[in-house]
Amino acid sequence: MRSESDRTLCERAAEVMPGGVYGHLSVARLSSSHPQFFARAKGAHLWDMEGRRYLDFMCAFGPNLLGYGHQAVDAAYVEQLALGDVMTGPSPVAVELAETFVNMVDGVDWVLFCKNGNDATTAALMTARKHTGRATIVRAKGAYHGSAPWCALGEAGVGPHDQADQIFHRYNDVEDLERAVKQAGKDLAAIFVSPIKHDIIVDQELPDPAYARRARELCDETGALLVVDNVRAGFRLTRGCSWTAMGVTPDLSSWGKALANGHALSALTGSNACKSAASKIFVTGSFWFAAAPMAASLVTLKIIRETDYLEHTIRLGETLRTELHSLAQNHGFGLKQTGPAQIPLITFEDDADLTLTRDWTGALARRGIYFHPYHNMFLCAAMTEADIAHTLEQADAAFAEVHS
Ligand SMILES: Cc1ncc(COP(=O)(O)O)c(C=O)c1O
Repeated sequence: MRSESDRTLCERAAEVMPGGVYGHLSVARLSSSHPQFFARAKGAHLWDMEGRRYLDFMCAFGPNLLGYGHQAVDAAYVEQLALGDVMTGPSPVAVELAETFVNMVDGVDWVLFCKNGNDATTAALMTARKHTGRATIVRAKGAYHGSAPWCALGEAGVGPHDQADQIFHRYNDVEDLERAVKQAGKDLAAIFVSPIKHDIIVDQELPDPAYARRARELCDETGALLVVDNVRAGFRLTRGCSWTAMGVTPDLSSWGKALANGHALSALTGSNACKSAASKIFVTGSFWFAAAPMAASLVTLKIIRETDYLEHTIRLGETLRTELHSLAQNHGFGLKQTGPAQIPLITFEDDADLTLTRDWTGALARRGIYFHPYHNMFLCAAMTEADIAHTLEQADAAFAEVHS
């Protein structure tokens, strides 16, 4: 059960915040053992209001790539804060960061900084419309690109025209993509894709290279732009743009979450071909040029370039996946572990309503391991082999508990 202090905070929140804690951070649909509030975070761990520690496999839903409170990243942030953060004009760090990004990521010629992933995906939509002079976008059904009316998953507050000019297709289905592009006809402005299928509740899917290449070809044939939304998976699959390894370079790509290891920064990046359109759309925000998150990002990108953070998270994720599979089998359970090992979604077979998955993740939460029952999770570079061994011990006990 949530602690009394956590429950009291939830009640106070409900009085003064709409619906209490809203959006993806709400634990309303998780087990009652998942705390809503945390007092602090460090490295790979969170501490709840009672001081109980959790090994955190949600990583703040993505921003925590290297560890919470990373010393070098946060030192750069604090140093820049003392110099100036939100000012009447940008700090030189903005130019340095854009240059760094352009030099680091193939196919990127420019960077437009913003705050949330949603800002970047919306700027991508506007850039594609300006560049092509067309309106329609083709995107995958169920994919998340943010909470603005054009891409909100819910219907409340969304008007009938907000999601007009959009045609949906099934991710990884070449024929269905071709059908959607044909339907868009001469009005196709962009194909929007996420680098992997990481929709909530359903199994994750790696991209089929044939799908990725066909999306590129269709854009080339029609003059539309290919937008890869790297907000969630950026720098967790590769050190560059997520589809480049398959030989597919997008025209536009959105980034956020891990870009400054937890400091608020996102970006739309693109190729020279659509730079002029990006310079003409009206997008801005009071905090978009804040310098301290940019200083934090410079250090984050250096660590991304110079360390084995990625291989480390893949290695740990693979151990977790293999060993969990065996443990589950020992207890007579089948697990569905989908997506890349370092961005896993773990549910039970024959558990369509997720009751078992919810119970198991609740049992894990009581044992200090924070797993999510229906959203993909993340490993971070601050996790160790000992953390994974500890997770497996606790998972074993949690399997036994839900079995009985
Ligand atoms: C793929 C993807 N795109 C866009 C967004 C929106 O990012 P933000 O929540 O920072 O606005 C998210 C957020 O989860 C995401 O996962």
